[in-house]
Amino acid sequence: MSTASQVAISVDAPGKVNLYLAVGDVRPDGYHPLTTLFAAVSLTETVTVSEGQTQGLSLSMDIVPGSLVDQQMQAGQFDPADVPMDERNLVYRAAELILAEHGISGHGVESAPVLHLHIAKAVPVAGGMAGGSADAAAALIATDRYLHATGRTDGLLTPGDYERLAAQLGADIPFSVRAALGQTLALGQGTGTELQNVEAPPESLHLVIVAAQFGLATPSVFKQLDAGRAAGLYPASGELVEPVELLDALKSYDGSDAALASLAALLRNDLQAPALSCASQMEQTLNLRDSEGVYASLVSGSGPTVLLLASSQARAEALATSLRVEGHHAVAAEVTSA
Ligand code: C5P
Repeated sequence: MSTASQVAISVDAPGKVNLYLAVGDVRPDGYHPLTTLFAAVSLTETVTVSEGQTQGLSLSMDIVPGSLVDQQMQAGQFDPADVPMDERNLVYRAAELILAEHGISGHGVESAPVLHLHIAKAVPVAGGMAGGSADAAAALIATDRYLHATGRTDGLLTPGDYERLAAQLGADIPFSVRAALGQTLALGQGTGTELQNVEAPPESLHLVIVAAQFGLATPSVFKQLDAGRAAGLYPASGELVEPVELLDALKSYDGSDAALASLAALLRNDLQAPALSCASQMEQTLNLRDSEGVYASLVSGSGPTVLLLASSQARAEALATSLRVEGHHAVAAEVTSA
């Protein structure tokens, strides 16, 4: 066994988009029942756990060069100093949950492990792509592996344990855990924590991800949906049913124009209209659906990040490049095939 000071354990966790997001009426606990199709994308966060210098848990963060967050930072629209590096950060809380699960106390106890967690950030903050959730998922797994690698625990927790702990931290974190462990697509029900794996498509989906110059708070977008529904501005929530046609379209997806057009018509996000009413600037980004080689545009989760479905990787990369030249924050990404 290596000594603790030599060990560093890194875990990657992808950001996500929701290819389908149907939202029901708000429950007494403030959460909404939903049926969603989560898709992991090829933009990843990395959390590295190593021995710390100070008692308890410490955090640090750097920004992945060229990432959407880097583009926001270069434009003065994101300041890493605004991300709390203490118990308000999901990474901190994830590490604490793992320590508690093993019966190890996180702070104040002399024998407690001194852990440092470093976040390499690429996925926008408050963007609707589960960037913070990906950090939390990576932190859960990396902390558990670190404790085991340094001889502090006898065994690793199970993926089911990680998902149970993840659900205590946030509704989309169980999917982030599953995605960090290699799953590309999953249907989410309940508040998003009840997951059912879906097979990845036979061909990759090529996307351009366009980040906004600002973040949107998820609770305010859900509240806007409730208010808009009550005022009759948006369709009432129907019965939440599995998106069978979309699942079929993905199962047979071959990247052809016909397959792209069918898929485009089946994407849905009930949070898109409320997100737009919170931030009307997004309309311009959604209009990029009219660009050459683009089949659809959709708000990702609660926004304001927008995804464009492109006809090929080359088209996605060319479009992302030209959008950056025009001053947008954009990268090409994919939902990787099976
Ligand atoms: O669980 P998480 O902290 O990520 O959720 C953030 C907020 O998003 C919740 O406080 C709630 O306002 C809203 N939410 C919701 N219904 C869900 C998931 C999230 O209303 N299914």
